[in-house]
Amino acid sequence: MTKRVAIFISGGGSNMRALVADMTGDHPARPAVVFSNNADAGGIAWAKAQGIATAVVDHRPFGTDRAAFEAAVSAALELHEPDIICLAGFMRKLTAGFTDAWAGRMINIHPSLLPKYKGLNTHARALAAGDSAHGCTVHEVTAALDDGPILGQARLAIAPDDTPDALAARVLVLEHQLYPAVLRRFAAGDTRLLELPR
Ligand code: GAR
Repeated sequence: MTKRVAIFISGGGSNMRALVADMTGDHPARPAVVFSNNADAGGIAWAKAQGIATAVVDHRPFGTDRAAFEAAVSAALELHEPDIICLAGFMRKLTAGFTDAWAGRMINIHPSLLPKYKGLNTHARALAAGDSAHGCTVHEVTAALDDGPILGQARLAIAPDDTPDALAARVLVLEHQLYPAVLRRFAAGDTRLLELPR
């Protein structure tokens, strides 16, 4: 049966667009809703223009009460009956209550070769460490930040004159290849590691 995918974004949503673009034809999944904690996220306007359902729950009125925010998120999702959640530049930490409820059904893309550089500023940290390789990872989401079983990685070589911005742009191109390829397999029940370039 075709899987229904909720895609969570906080910003422009270029990974979300890559996922949506791939979910056609014989793909085992279809976008059910694009969700954001930010009504002004560029990706929300784009999804609406495509005729994809959208939902927004602003996290700010909930303050530090993450569980209450997540209860509102769950209520907003219910109508769309998602089978899978894809975090795609969703910049809110999720509690164990939410990640446990979605265990094995929620995946994330992170701009580093995990387990290196969990959290923020991954490109600058890879450069500062003098790494020769960098890239991105898609993994299952667990309660620990940027942790969880790795489903796919894409790597590139760091150039001697690379800057964080230049690196971010090149990694983003890889993200747009890796995330759709992993979702396609994951939605079909395939959790074997995918490595790009093959
Ligand atoms: C992407 O680089 C994604 O890997 C990163 O945010 C960017 C979102 O871009 N995610 C994280 O850092 C999550 N920890 P997008 O909105 O254009 O997809």
